[in-house]
This record gives sequence, C-alpha cells and structure tokens, in this order.
Amino acid sequence: MTGFQQSGKLLPPPFSLIAELTHRCPLHCLYCSNPIEMQRAEDELSTKDWIQVFRQAALLGILHVHFTGGEPLARKDLPELIRAAREAGLYVNMITSGIGLTEARLATLVEAGLDHLQLSLQDLEEVTANHVAGARAHAIKLALIPIIKRFSIGFTMNLVVHRLNLDRLEEFIALAETLGPDRLEIAHVQYYGWALKNRNLLMPTEEQVRRSGPIVEAAKKRLAGKIHLEAVVPDYFGSYPKACMGGWGKQAMLIDPIGQALPCHAAAVIPDIHFQNVRTEDLSSIWNFSSAFQRFRGDAWMSEECRSCARKELDFGGCRCQAMLLTNDPNAMDPVCQHSPQHALMQELRQPVLTTEPFPIWRE
Ligand code: FES
Repeated sequence: MTGFQQSGKLLPPPFSLIAELTHRCPLHCLYCSNPIEMQRAEDELSTKDWIQVFRQAALLGILHVHFTGGEPLARKDLPELIRAAREAGLYVNMITSGIGLTEARLATLVEAGLDHLQLSLQDLEEVTANHVAGARAHAIKLALIPIIKRFSIGFTMNLVVHRLNLDRLEEFIALAETLGPDRLEIAHVQYYGWALKNRNLLMPTEEQVRRSGPIVEAAKKRLAGKIHLEAVVPDYFGSYPKACMGGWGKQAMLIDPIGQALPCHAAAVIPDIHFQNVRTEDLSSIWNFSSAFQRFRGDAWMSEECRSCARKELDFGGCRCQAMLLTNDPNAMDPVCQHSPQHALMQELRQPVLTTEPFPIWRE
C-alpha cells in the first residue's frame, strides 16, 4: 500500500492518458519503441470502449490525451474518438506519421476537437529519411506541414536523432526552423522495442554526442520566443538516469490497443507483471489499486543506496524497463546511474561495434 492509500485517500491523478489506438502503422521505423509483439487489429478496443475510457479519464482528473499508436489515422472512427475525448474535457494531441492525412481529413479532425498535432521527421533528405522510416514518407510529410499550419491547432515537430543523422543536426534544425512549428523536439532514440534490436546501428558516437550539445544550446537561444525547443538527451551517455515517465505510476497512464493499462510503453518487459484491462476495470481503480501501477511507486522497492539518495526525488529511481533490459533485474539500480555497480556496461554499449559486415536491420 502507498502512503496515500494507508491514509485512506486516493492518489493524485495522472496528467496524461496515452491512448495507443492501434499498432497498425504505414511506417516501419528502425527506432520504433513499440513492443516487438504488436497487438492484432481484430483485438483492438471498440469505439464504445475508448469513449468510456475518455469519460473515466476525465472523471479521474486527467487533463490531456495523446492519441498514438502505431498510426491513429488507421482508425476509421478517429473523428468520433477525438470528439468524445474533447467532450469529456480532455486536451487532444495526435502523434501521427501524417500518411493518409489530407487537408479535408484534417479539417474533420479539427472540427471534432483536435487541439494539437505532432509530426516526426526522420532526416533532412528523402533517401535517408525514407530508409529510416521504411516507407516513402518524407516528401508526404514536408508537403503536409504547410497544410497543418493553416489550422488553429498547436504543432510540434519532432526530429529523431541517432548515429545515422546526428552529423547533420545543424542543417536538420535549420530545416525545421523554416517549417515553423510551435514546438520543436530533438529526441535521441530511446532503446526499447525495435530500437533496442537496432542499437548497434543507431547508437551515436561519443564525439557526435559531444558536438551536438552546443548545437542544441545555440538553437535554444536563437529560437527563444519563436519556437519552444525541447531536447531529449541520449541517456546511455548520462551520469544519472532520467525520470522515466515522470516516475512510475505518477504522471501518466498508457492504454494499449487491446485495453491493457500500463505505466509505460515498455512495461511488458518486466516479468511477473499483470496488467488490468479497461474492458473489465475502471480507470480509477486501476490507477489507485492495480499491482502493476503499485509495483515501483514510492521507494520501498529501491535498494538502501537509492532510498537514501537525494536524487530519488528527481529521477524516482530511473527507468525500470531499462534496468530489466540491461541487467535482467527490474529492481536493480538503473545502470545509467554512475553509482550503479553495472554502470561500466553503459560505457561498453556506447562503443561503436567494429564490423566489416553491414548491420542487420530489424523492423516491424
Ligand atoms: Fe518503462 Fe522507463 S520505459 S519505466
């Protein structure tokens, strides 16, 4: 039991609901962090199920919903889902590849209540961008951006960076500037799902990471007041772990396409964890009482060293899925932490793998 429940009160609600509407996607990105075992289309939640989830989310106190996937546009009922989420009182963001989005279709989504849209670019130029995306997507995305800007919705552009494109970061940011989003996110690949399988191919060199820091800082200064820039750091290169998801079961709740409620997108890698399903359980009960959300709340699960560390209030013990994936122990110190007995592993993993053979490429 957490302190809140012992005192008879419910927990503070999450801020965000991450609604993975489907795992179907026209892209097959090398860095996709979706689970390797995707959920099948025929098992997806129905329109009615999702509408109930949005109502329960708003009652619980959630403020935003992020429609993601896979590709949310693959759901034919998307306007209905947006309308229901908006009518429930949620701010609606859609994370999309843009494939299949026309001006008329976007007008329908905006009319239904879409507040914000996020689009990622894979590289500066067509051939490499399409190679990373596993689809002819780059030109479609570029053509879509002026269309998005005709609508009164927030627009975030996301640049995903890794070894294959980090040397072009300055030009990549310059391209994004000319396209004029409200927010720009420069996100280093996070190594889960397919990205983990392609880690040898995507891991930047130490030199690339060192050079990219000042470029991002200069862009932040140059763009201040015009474009809000946020950078997601390459955590294999850090000395302290990230506060993954803002803390386990603290800020966000993810519902996967078949209705399982997870504390984060990778939580299924943790052994012996049971996810409750919104088809049979109310969101409030899952948030407050389910064993999956309780599992790493608070500090009772931490080692004595972590429990007595002041940084536990900043990083909440780091990423549990990363601890599992890299050390095989979900309770272990996140190896990104310089105090972890396994921290040397991070040094090893960021060394370029020397091979004369091309790296195998894994995609969905
Ligand atoms: Fe699951 Fe970080 S991705 S806790």
